[in-house]
Amino acid sequence: MKIIIEQNRRGQRSEHEVEIPTADPRERPMALDALVHAQEAGLPDLAFRYGCRNRLCGVCTIEINGRPRVACRTKLREGDRLSGLKTLPVVKDFVHRRDGVNRQLRDRLPRTTGNPDGEPEPGYHSLNRCIECYVCLDRCPMHERNFEGGSPSADEAPPPAEGYRHGNPFSLLKLQRVRHDNAATPDEREQAVRAAVDLGLDRCVDCKGCSCGVGIDLMKEVIHPLLDEAGLKN
Ligand code: SF4
Ligand code: SF4
Ligand code: FES
Repeated sequence: MKIIIEQNRRGQRSEHEVEIPTADPRERPMALDALVHAQEAGLPDLAFRYGCRNRLCGVCTIEINGRPRVACRTKLREGDRLSGLKTLPVVKDFVHRRDGVNRQLRDRLPRTTGNPDGEPEPGYHSLNRCIECYVCLDRCPMHERNFEGGSPSADEAPPPAEGYRHGNPFSLLKLQRVRHDNAATPDEREQAVRAAVDLGLDRCVDCKGCSCGVGIDLMKEVIHPLLDEAGLKN
């Protein structure tokens, strides 16, 4: 099977056609295995990240034919093009700076100080399925506002170390999870809604929506409940 791998060095892109050996022509190798093979077989400096190899750690997300996918769990087809994410700054090839997303929650995610005994509300465990893969940042108009229509890798893009000013589905999920947390006080639940509004929740009112790399129904479980609570729904 032949695929195309794009390398990215400080914005300079190069593409490489790579032959991935398969025992059977119908076999479809995982994207992560293809990257490992490419590194061993001709692109020794190819940069990419992985951890669990089991869709648990979320660090291996790449783009396949321009859409984000979890590489360790995505099977390739002949001619697929593998590249880095457009939604985060590229450090090298398939390695990205991810801190701008998490750091935006630093002063916004309420610390829960209520009674930790008992069970969380329904919905909490479902949101715990999030693996921080950042697939959901794709085409999010709220997240795009951070870069003023440009690229996260552009020189004038905001430094990730400061935390991005505008939100994204992942950040909203973390805030909505506080609202299901039995250890959160009523005030902390309200703080979570105010933080979502501060991150730009109003962008969600007319948005077609976001999709999750592990199948969480973001619109039903995160966006609509937050819009309801904030009184922003049409
Ligand atoms: S619904 Fe909101 S969080 Fe989801 S993609 Fe649209 S703007 Fe982003
Ligand atoms: S909400 Fe889904 S797509 Fe977004 S980071 Fe979590 S698991 Fe990944
Ligand atoms: S390597 Fe952990 S999710 Fe892919």
